[in-house]
Amino acid sequence: MEGRYRFWDDVELVHNSLPEIDLEEVDTAISLFGRQLKAPLVITGMTGGYPGATFINRNLARAAAELGIGFGVGSERAAVVKGAYPESYSCARDYDVPLKLANIGAPQIIHQAAEDPVVGPEEAQRAMELIGAHVLAIHLNYLQEMIQPEGDRRARGVLAQIARMARRFPVLAKETGAGISRPVALRLRRAGVKGFDVSGRGGTSFAAVEYHRAVKQGATRQARLGKTFWDWGIPAPVSVVELAHLGVPVIASGGIRNGLDAARALALGATAVGTAGGILRAATESYEATREELEIFLQELRTAMFLTGSRQVRDLARVRTVVRGETRSWLDQLP
Ligand SMILES: Cc1cc2nc3c(=O)[nH]c(=O)nc-3n(C[C@H](O)[C@H](O)[C@H](O)COP(=O)(O)O)c2cc1C
Repeated sequence: MEGRYRFWDDVELVHNSLPEIDLEEVDTAISLFGRQLKAPLVITGMTGGYPGATFINRNLARAAAELGIGFGVGSERAAVVKGAYPESYSCARDYDVPLKLANIGAPQIIHQAAEDPVVGPEEAQRAMELIGAHVLAIHLNYLQEMIQPEGDRRARGVLAQIARMARRFPVLAKETGAGISRPVALRLRRAGVKGFDVSGRGGTSFAAVEYHRAVKQGATRQARLGKTFWDWGIPAPVSVVELAHLGVPVIASGGIRNGLDAARALALGATAVGTAGGILRAATESYEATREELEIFLQELRTAMFLTGSRQVRDLARVRTVVRGETRSWLDQLP
């Protein structure tokens, strides 16, 4: 369930026919939130909180540990508030993942319905401890909440609560497919957020996910909303450009489906890239399929680095790019 337009295809890297490096010199290592990664890749939060999620999170965490990349779990609210299937998250503790991200939802850190408990700093602490996290990801998902029949529609006070969390934990603010704009990022940074995962439009569309759920439930009005807002949001590459020079790490995500997309994002100024929907099928299948998928991804990234004469990840930021199509018009017209 993806957006209709592939924004990353609008970004081309100018080929270097005389790279003057050997492939074995290409070094994908980076430091992110003070952690050493072997490649600038994070598997961003997807799942947890039901029995089948243990298998998926184990496959992802094991592959992340073996390949030296980052890994985040899905929203931990069910586990920290209701005690639901904590092992589907804590299984990540069994693997030596260099960067682990805990996950809670921004709408749930403020008061919503009377019967829904708020996820406060104590619960966030438990979410971090459950997986042995280095960073707390707080996800912004108001597009999804608006389409969900039972969605949380209050947003007043979220920024102050994020600031409160950021005083206690290293907080990463992430979207869930609709992208983060520069003005929003500036407010979040002033609130103490240590980094961003843009999760822009072009990959997984939560309006689409909720559309299908609403159709199944016979919720015709919510289905209409989902269809209308299917392609809502800031294109992922545009969000990366908006946030590139704020002085904090930026993870580019939203439709990153291969290592070439990753190189494109890094050339636009991202610190690292994130992928979710593109690896889910393999993770549902087996550890071997997950590992194979990620190895191909990293080989593609190394190939793009070699073909642009980029020995290190930071050299990609100096590669000339051509940006076309819808992404170009967004960048040209954005006030
Ligand atoms: C099945 C699925 C479940 C997700 N659940 C969460 C979640 O619980 N918390 C969160 O922060 N993001 C969640 N996401 C969003 C991803 O982390 C990511 O930001 C988004 O899907 C865009 O990346 P993609 O296009 O590579 O999928 C989920 C994505 C998918 C596909």
